[in-house]
Amino acid sequence: MNIATTPKLPFYHPTGRECDLFEAAYENGLPLLLKGPTGCGKTRFVEHMAARLGKPLYTVACHDDLSAADLIGRYLLKGGETVWVDGPLTRAVREGGICYLDEVVEARKDVTVVLHPLTDTRRTLMIDRTGEELVAPAAFMLVASYNPGYQSVLKRLKPSTRQRFLSISFDFPDNETEIAVVASESRLEPGRVAPLVRLAGHIRNLSGMDLEEGVSTRLLIYAATLMAGGMGVTEALEAAVIEPLSDEPDVQQSLRDLVSTIYG
Ligand SMILES: Nc1ncnc2c1ncn2[C@@H]1O[C@H](COP(=O)(O)OP(=O)(O)OP(=O)(O)O)[C@@H](O)[C@H]1O
Ligand SMILES: [Mg+2]
Repeated sequence: MNIATTPKLPFYHPTGRECDLFEAAYENGLPLLLKGPTGCGKTRFVEHMAARLGKPLYTVACHDDLSAADLIGRYLLKGGETVWVDGPLTRAVREGGICYLDEVVEARKDVTVVLHPLTDTRRTLMIDRTGEELVAPAAFMLVASYNPGYQSVLKRLKPSTRQRFLSISFDFPDNETEIAVVASESRLEPGRVAPLVRLAGHIRNLSGMDLEEGVSTRLLIYAATLMAGGMGVTEALEAAVIEPLSDEPDVQQSLRDLVSTIYG
């Protein structure tokens, strides 16, 4: 878990009306679900909005072993005494902060049971172990995210869970926005970022190739960062785009071909 109260506003370039929707969700006490591919800005968006609203942010990276107790808390033995220790979700509820459950589909089923009363009009966190029923203050907000591309039949949010959240689909930004984001994050001049973003557009449009997902904004930032540090284009793209995207020699070759059509 990572608790952050950042005085500095993390840079986020909106791609639509997502900031307004986040604020409306917050003001009305509604939970929010962010859907989208890896590296498209979901986490950065939540960090930005939490800082903008001046809220403490409790981020939990969900995984298939994450249980309700990991979120809510547990009794721990401390110096021979048993004491109750709040988990991140409970702390966010008590403090009136934002709890962000990243990759929520990965969490164990008992987590859903906890989320349901918290994400409907009850806004209640049931702490079975202590018998407490915490009603979330207006300042508490629950945000969750997942990548629909990775979903398997076994790991899918049930409609009864999905339909408790407002939802936004994230995608890669339009060219102009992506150039601005990559240039600002990497400090590579926009004129040199533009062909990278053009390359990304081609890669994302490839169909029939064995790529699980298109190249992320995150990888473009990696490539641009290497280039800004003086590395040559070919070497930077090899390490930041081609190798991370695929292990298949054929696929890698097609990506190199795309690179040469753009960089000549
Ligand atoms: N709209 C944006 N404004 C500012 N930075 C952005 C934006 N989109 C992407 N980024 C940059 O891309 C990087 C990756 O974004 P982020 O970590 O938020 O992705 P994510 O959607 O949470 O991915 P994952 O699903 O893998 O966790 C960020 O560190 C940030 O530098
Ligand atoms: Mg993320």
